[in-house]
Amino acid sequence: MKRKNITMAALVFWLGLSAVPCAVRAASAEENPLKEEMRLLDGAYKTLIDAIALNNPGIIEGPFQEVLDAKPRTEDALKSGNIKLPKNNDKMLMFESLDEEFHRNVKVLMESSKKGDMKMVEMMAHKLLNGCIHCHGNFRQ
Ligand code: HEC
Repeated sequence: MKRKNITMAALVFWLGLSAVPCAVRAASAEENPLKEEMRLLDGAYKTLIDAIALNNPGIIEGPFQEVLDAKPRTEDALKSGNIKLPKNNDKMLMFESLDEEFHRNVKVLMESSKKGDMKMVEMMAHKLLNGCIHCHGNFRQ
């Protein structure tokens, strides 16, 4: 009986511990739509690398569409001042123009993948990677 109680206590403690990081993660994703969009983008870009390596254009569009769908939430949060860029938050015009260019390239990528034009897909993959590096250099801590 005593042993059972200890086991129960350990279980409750363990469940409690594992629930805490989940709650924290869920909250921060909701509070910062830019980070959420970036995590979607990170996944989409990794899928893109697979698509090129495996010559499988069909898997590209879906994850990038999710990135496009997340953009309005990021824009709202930045406009309302709910979130700030970690670096150079006062250079919002430059951020917006890099962001616009990036999203234009994402759309070209998606169109090329639909046509199965893998040469263009590869070109856009390089352009997009340059976009990640350029924007992070200016606006990420
Ligand atoms: C127009 C600007 C811009 C572009 C383009 C961009 N990022 Fe980001 N990214 C940011 C900023 C700003 C942050 C920092 C957000 C913060 O910490 O508040 C960030 C953060 C991240 C993070 C960390 C998210 C987190 O949870 O802390 C990842 C991963 C990421 N970006 C991946 C990418 C990848 C992959 C690409 C290119 C395929 C890319 N980003 C392109 C602006 C950009």
